[in-house]
Amino acid sequence: MTHADGRVVLITGAGGGLGRAFAVGFAAAGDRIVVADIDAAGAHRTVELLAAEGADALAVRVDVTKKASVEALIDTVIDRYGRLDVVVNNAAIYATLTRTPFAEIDPDEWDRVMAVNAKGTWLVSAAAYPRMTKPGGRIINIASATVMSGSPLWMHYVASKAAVIGMTRVMARETGSEGVTVNAIAPGFTLTEASMGLMDDAATYGVDRGAIKRASQPDDIVGTAVFLASDQASYITGQTLIVDGGKQFI
Ligand SMILES: NC(=O)c1ccc[n+]([C@@H]2O[C@H](COP(=O)([O-])OP(=O)(O)OC[C@H]3O[C@@H](n4cnc5c(N)ncnc54)[C@H](O)[C@@H]3O)[C@@H](O)[C@H]2O)c1
Repeated sequence: MTHADGRVVLITGAGGGLGRAFAVGFAAAGDRIVVADIDAAGAHRTVELLAAEGADALAVRVDVTKKASVEALIDTVIDRYGRLDVVVNNAAIYATLTRTPFAEIDPDEWDRVMAVNAKGTWLVSAAAYPRMTKPGGRIINIASATVMSGSPLWMHYVASKAAVIGMTRVMARETGSEGVTVNAIAPGFTLTEASMGLMDDAATYGVDRGAIKRASQPDDIVGTAVFLASDQASYITGQTLIVDGGKQFI
């Protein structure tokens, strides 16, 4: 699937992991990429990778929990490219969280995960939406299949991603009349540097529970994002697509 009209795609948390894979996938489809991350060095590495493939890409350091930082990011995108077509809200706190029974979650850690995963998704969408291409703009929020599975021992993470799914539905209803779609992707456990650090048996974790008996790679998620951002998906909005090799049937 390629896009010849020079779209500009902003991906948060694209300094590594799934975000970097999204950046590579959208660039391969012909889009210009803004790689936004709190990890400036990671963002620059992603841009180097994209530039080596001949893509037009820009690294911007952002803290998605800070309104001023997010607004500066959107200003930078518009100043540089004059348009913003697709936003992928991928930045999150994830593998560094303490896994603990819900009765013992540290309230400060609860606040931190909510600030990045839920509030960050809202702040980026809020700053981007007024300046996005209309009709045709796309917001894609990265949720998690842990919301459907009720994955134990990190209820703060699951709650933050459930918030993302709820926000997806509200934003879809508020933006649809302008021709903008808002959807979420709920990946199952996927092998990234971050997730592989979570456990020794990451490469085989959960494989037995899937209809498809292999581990999920970042590229398994990328195509869904590229599709949701395409013209072919213009009548899909407010949805959460579970991409987990068939582990949840709900
Ligand atoms: N890997 C999995 O198994 C899996 C499964 C389901 C959902 N997800 C979701 O996919 C996304 C990517 O996960 P990943 O495995 O690549 O993890 P990751 O930790 O590599 O990616 C998260 C990125 O967000 C950035 N980030 C963190 N706080 C930020 C902030 N305040 N402002 C800007 N950027 C910030 C980090 O620097 C990092 O580059 C996350 O939303 C995660 O919750 C991952």
